[in-house]
Amino acid sequence: MYSFEASKFLAAELLIVGAITSSVSAQNSSTCAGVATAVALFNQCGAEFSVRGGGHMNFPGSNNIDDGILLAFDQMTSITVNTEASTVDVSPGNRWVDVYQALNATGAYAIGGRLKTIGVAGLALIGGHHYWNNKYGFAMDNVVNYEVVLGNGTQVSANNATNHDLFWALKGGANNFGIVTKFTMKTHQVPLISTTALTYSEEQVPGFITAVVDFVESSEVT
Ligand SMILES: *[C@@H]1O[C@H](CO)[C@@H](O)[C@H](O)[C@H]1NC(C)=O
Ligand SMILES: *[C@@H]1O[C@H](CO)[C@@H](O)[C@H](O)[C@H]1NC(C)=O
Ligand SMILES: *[C@@H]1O[C@H](CO)[C@@H](O)[C@H](O)[C@H]1NC(C)=O
Ligand SMILES: *[C@@H]1O[C@H](CO)[C@@H](O)[C@H](O)[C@H]1NC(C)=O
Repeated sequence: MYSFEASKFLAAELLIVGAITSSVSAQNSSTCAGVATAVALFNQCGAEFSVRGGGHMNFPGSNNIDDGILLAFDQMTSITVNTEASTVDVSPGNRWVDVYQALNATGAYAIGGRLKTIGVAGLALIGGHHYWNNKYGFAMDNVVNYEVVLGNGTQVSANNATNHDLFWALKGGANNFGIVTKFTMKTHQVPLISTTALTYSEEQVPGFITAVVDFVESSEVT
């Protein structure tokens, strides 16, 4: 189904962010300096571009472009766990499994994708359904700071106190307000949980519904 898109995806001119970052690192130690340099360059050339974080989605236009430049975060994959602050700093090239693995030893958990392969940046910028939505909100609600490169190549931080409008705009604003080069997210101590998927045939539906109602109404459920 996606073969056309996949071929375009691979054909698009690819700019791996890590390469730019290392080429400018002598003058500028910021991790998003490479992205800022690239965006400034795109502006100068009037180049159309798209951005790829973890790269989970493969529908047309989601993280690639025809006849333009793809800014790929493949090499921006650092994760720093801040145990004292109960936060984790995540670069946009990660997928959620990388975050969960980095946190696993600390017993903490971040509110992110329900599938391992979902990219951090796309999900956190769009909203982010998770098993813990009722308790901790969406993935986007758990971001406390964004490092952002704006459309003119300027690097800024956005949090509750600084660039407050941008902070809120990025909570659901997807890729419309800048390129996020670092997410700082709250972490939570959660118990180990186990999930099971059960499949029933159609003729078992009435019996299943009755059983669920009986279970929910029973005093065993707290
Ligand atoms: C990064 O380097 C550019 C070019 O030298 C400079 O204009 C910019 O202020 C630097 N940014 C930071 C955060 O040091
Ligand atoms: C976390 O650690 C547990 C026990 O060490 C392991 O079974 C589990 O697979 C780990 N989870 C992840 C996401 O790495
Ligand atoms: C880039 O845009 C921001 C936000 O509008 C503005 O504050 C900043 O001065 C601009 N920088 C340049 C170099 O134009
Ligand atoms: C955000 O800033 C406002 C205004 O300073 C403050 O009232 C509020 O408590 C802050 N919220 C958080 C989550 O820090």
